[in-house]
Amino acid sequence: MRIHVLGSAAGGGFPQWNCNCPNCDGLRRGTVKARARTQSSIAITGDNTRWLLCNASPDILTQLQRFPELQPARALRDTAITAILLMDAQIDHTTGLYMLREHRERWPLWCTAPVHEDLTRGNPLLNLLGHYCGVDWNTIPIDGQAFTIAAFEGLRFTALPLISNAPPYSPHRDRPVAGDNIGLLIEDANNGKRLFYAPGLGEMEARVWDAMNRADAVLVDGTCWTDTELVDLGASKKTARSMGHLPQQGEGGMLSWLAQLPSSTRRILIHINNTNPILDEDGPQYAELRAAGVEVAYDGMEIIL
Ligand code: MLT
Ligand code: MN
Ligand code: ZN
Repeated sequence: MRIHVLGSAAGGGFPQWNCNCPNCDGLRRGTVKARARTQSSIAITGDNTRWLLCNASPDILTQLQRFPELQPARALRDTAITAILLMDAQIDHTTGLYMLREHRERWPLWCTAPVHEDLTRGNPLLNLLGHYCGVDWNTIPIDGQAFTIAAFEGLRFTALPLISNAPPYSPHRDRPVAGDNIGLLIEDANNGKRLFYAPGLGEMEARVWDAMNRADAVLVDGTCWTDTELVDLGASKKTARSMGHLPQQGEGGMLSWLAQLPSSTRRILIHINNTNPILDEDGPQYAELRAAGVEVAYDGMEIIL
């Protein structure tokens, strides 16, 4: 299986249009060694021809231009995106669906029932898309049952409901229900290799930890370095945990978990918020990650399993 990181930033991207935090300002001025990043999305293929889009970012058109393999040009209207899967109903993971409205057919769309509910009520994006190409919704099971996606028969998917948070416009914001956010364990049936993907992981649970331990690579929530990062900067009143994101640093933080994975596991952070000091490649936090064998995903990164 091959994974292409289309966008490695959290909501807002990096730099964020209205942000002058040390990272965003430093990147614009060229005084911080960092890479610009678009918003959270990956694409996965088992055959190098058909690609599953995991999340549809507001930056999808830029991401498609930067990754020509998604435009194979076999017909007047064409795409290599064969199906779309959503990890949650957040703006940064769904708004790109609007930009994919010119599709000639209904999009095969995979998401959980609570995500479908949010996208037909709180943010009725799927209703609007119905006036264009429309979608064929397939329910992602959250009872631990493995599922397959048509055209991706070589890949076996298992969704894990995560403790995180629903979007601000969801009827269950701050009262999350199972399926608002999922992690995915994706297994290549041909070689048995597994990826664990969870861009929004708020709390480690036994089931999630077990899935991470079974993976050859984990691509997990790298939103914030500390819980109070946005508050300390005066950028927001929201803590990382209140938004459903486990911070990296400190006791019980993501790094303490990653350190306990088998030494052979590839550990990669994704969905990085623009305020996160790990974006500064000259900074002490980036050095700490390197020393711990933890990678920071970047746009265009490829993971081959
Ligand atoms: C999140 O992951 O918490 C959201 O994407 C934040 C946002 O888009 O505003
Ligand atoms: Mn997000
Ligand atoms: Zn910023």
